[in-house]
Amino acid sequence: MENVENVIVTKNLTKVYQMGVVRVHALKEINLTVQRGEFVAIMGASGSGKSTLMNMLGCLDQPTSGDYFLDGKNVNSLDKNEYAEIRNQKIGFVFQGFNLLARTTALENVELPLMYDRYNRIKEPHKAAKSALERVGLTDRMNHLPNQLSGGQQQRVAIARALVTQPSILMADEPTGNLDSLNSIEIFSLFQTLNQEGITIVMVTHERDFADYATRIVEMRDGHIRRDWIIQNRRNAQADLVQYKANGSATEEIYEQN
Ligand SMILES: Nc1ncnc2c1ncn2[C@@H]1O[C@H](COP(=O)(O)OP(=O)(O)OP(=O)(O)O)[C@@H](O)[C@H]1O
Ligand SMILES: [Mg+2]
Repeated sequence: MENVENVIVTKNLTKVYQMGVVRVHALKEINLTVQRGEFVAIMGASGSGKSTLMNMLGCLDQPTSGDYFLDGKNVNSLDKNEYAEIRNQKIGFVFQGFNLLARTTALENVELPLMYDRYNRIKEPHKAAKSALERVGLTDRMNHLPNQLSGGQQQRVAIARALVTQPSILMADEPTGNLDSLNSIEIFSLFQTLNQEGITIVMVTHERDFADYATRIVEMRDGHIRRDWIIQNRRNAQADLVQYKANGSATEEIYEQN
């Protein structure tokens, strides 16, 4: 049994994609440990393996070799059903493109994962979905359709949907890749609040300025972890928002001043 305070432990996690005769080594023996309460930003060049790693950690895809302990449990030994079950229980996933159902209200989108809650862990789905939307600041938008919401609001709905199952980890692959600076900082402010409330977060971002909202940066290169460090001068998204709104200045200016 792994130490349960380690939410994520990987041992030599490897992923090889077979494309006809070509083999792509997307992940090469990754050893990564994430403790409960951390907020990790994964960075690295395009093609370095960030999304592949997220998909393994989020139980969306299985590795070619190596072990993955999630909340102390080796998930590689599970069969397909158990694997899907553990994903539903433990992981909340947020994508760059929001992935909301179009003709479905915010509230219904957030309720959706609870339909797969086979063991009825969440007793009152409707109530749980409402409180998840309240948590992300969308109390007054529950009955809106996705196309009646801004990009930032749509991503909040997606975050509420990820939270409604009460996961151990929130995983986000470039969550602000489709958003402008103001909406991006608002999402990071929400992430910082959720993280303070105890949720472990692992996210991918291309922007170093945004990575500085996390507590730790893991930098990938060619399927390896190249560097892994704790952020010393962590940015506060709420403070950046106040400044951004006060002088209406470009984010670049905020980043230069700090
Ligand atoms: N389904 C797949 N089949 C074959 N090769 C893949 C597949 N998914 C990813 N790859 C390859 O694995 C490597 C890592 O890809 P990955 O998507 O993890 O990179 P990334 O760091 O997320 O890049 P980006 O910043 O562009 O999103 C790349 O060489 C990519 O071409
Ligand atoms: Mg990617």
